[in-house]
Amino acid sequence: MLLALSLLALAPLLVPPCIARSQETYSESLRLTPLADGKVHSNLSFSMAGPWNDEQQVGKSATAQHHTHLPSALTSLLTHHRISSFHLTLSSGRWSPHWPTTSSPASGIELVAWLEPDEEEDELAEAKRWHEFTGGLGGLFCTGVTQGGNEASRPDWGYSYEGEGAEGETLRPYRLVLPRLSATCTESLTPFLSLLPCSSRAGLGALLNPHRLFDGEWTLLGVHFEQKGGMGEVRLEVGSVQDPVRRDRLAGGLGRRDFSLESLFDRQLTVACPVAETSTVKLVVPRNSVNAFEIQPSDGRVVEKEGELEIVKWETKQGSPTEPLNARISWPTENPFRYPHVSRLPTPPISTRRILLGRGQERGHIGIELINNGAEAAEVLWVEEWPWWVRGFVGSLTAEGASSSEDSQPSVLALDYTPPIPRRRPTTLQALLHLPPRSTSKFLLPYESSYLWYTEYPSDAHRGFEVPGALVILLNPASPSAEEIDVDPSHLLASRGAKLRLHTPSTLLSLPTPDFSMPYNVIILTSTVVALFFGSVCNKLVRAWWVVDLEAREEAEKKEDKKE
Ligand SMILES: *[C@@H]1O[C@H](CO)[C@@H](O)[C@H](O)[C@H]1NC(C)=O
Repeated sequence: MLLALSLLALAPLLVPPCIARSQETYSESLRLTPLADGKVHSNLSFSMAGPWNDEQQVGKSATAQHHTHLPSALTSLLTHHRISSFHLTLSSGRWSPHWPTTSSPASGIELVAWLEPDEEEDELAEAKRWHEFTGGLGGLFCTGVTQGGNEASRPDWGYSYEGEGAEGETLRPYRLVLPRLSATCTESLTPFLSLLPCSSRAGLGALLNPHRLFDGEWTLLGVHFEQKGGMGEVRLEVGSVQDPVRRDRLAGGLGRRDFSLESLFDRQLTVACPVAETSTVKLVVPRNSVNAFEIQPSDGRVVEKEGELEIVKWETKQGSPTEPLNARISWPTENPFRYPHVSRLPTPPISTRRILLGRGQERGHIGIELINNGAEAAEVLWVEEWPWWVRGFVGSLTAEGASSSEDSQPSVLALDYTPPIPRRRPTTLQALLHLPPRSTSKFLLPYESSYLWYTEYPSDAHRGFEVPGALVILLNPASPSAEEIDVDPSHLLASRGAKLRLHTPSTLLSLPTPDFSMPYNVIILTSTVVALFFGSVCNKLVRAWWVVDLEAREEAEKKEDKKE
């Protein structure tokens, strides 16, 4: 006991003083956006930044990395597998095209990572490093990132490295996408919360109530890591779209669209996270609202302009500790909320849809439809990643358009195709497309699906197989001075930047499926035949037929009776 106490007293002296310094920052924000169709998008973002690859001397021959806010469970995984940057998103539900966004995540699980190059490492060793990293990440967030035998692809047109520039050229991008119906769930939220400095005990993390979060129309859990100027930044993101109108109707109301922090999350924001540098709650002021609305509370709020949007902002740190901050908006004269006509909902510059046509089960056409709502021609990157059992025939890719002017037709400006290797590499298709103004275009190519091994079918084989959605990127218009002709399409995204990134939802494809009841039919039929055969053979062998003289027998019996 005494020894332990004296050790405790000595402890501060044993730790080198350099470790105590901390330049790490933590900030959190919540942004609420009322949508035109009465729903609410809440976006929670938690960001932790600190010096990266900053080794500190802890002994004569030992160095270590020390972090105060950056979660060590994640940082050790990243340094061990030498990852420069990664994005992991888990999303469930469907993002409506009428909800404003600049980037909608892939449905299901998507992981994009850039591995640091290593000259002593061959392709196989690098693939092994990637596999171990995905396994580690899957374990950390309780998601089946590696499940299902899906392999990674390397689409470089649709993803550009956003960290420090010079090295970006040699980094090795990897992407894995797994369509899953229930990608976000409570199991993933729990480890997610444990990475936050205040967990769910204080600050905005306290609002993360799984009962409400996963009850929404759409849910997202995102983990992002980037390096900039010797600093590493981990950003955790939680997104949710909820429907206050439905909730009000369930509670017996007429269907009002008013909402507050408390009605959305069913938790109160009472304690601020003490280590957070900034902790803000923002509410986007609705535009084009016919009815008057009011935003509360009025003390401590600041109104900001962000482009065309007006935003009301509160600092949670400034809220008095006795009274919880309950930001709310209400439409006092509106009862109930009326859904606007579809034509009055905001339209994005482009919208997209997956097309899957097929006759029979093994052949069909797969592609996308793109609608350019803008008055200018647009250039779009189209990236597809199909599992190996979908084999596309790129030679027969067709571009079909219906536009107001006849001379402007959609076209494919550049194309890159990586054919699949069964069970080892998925199909990757990348294309640069030209869309005429105010037009609807279809890009389709024939495909053939392969037969799988009997053991590769899931237990509900007749449900169909999920094909990941397409990624569509609307590029910013090229500056007129730039020489366009020679630009490699893989650098287009980095040089021009994306105006809009959209993912189509994943689609079900029915593969040629063997008749799984056949073996049982065969077994039953053969057993019947065998039973009939052996039955008659047995009869023949065991039974014999002869004539019995009944009278002779009766006389014999009588004689015996007399003897007795
Ligand atoms: C949520 O907010 C973060 C930071 O403000 C932003 O980077 C991200 O794109 C937002 N997510 C969505 C889906 O709007």
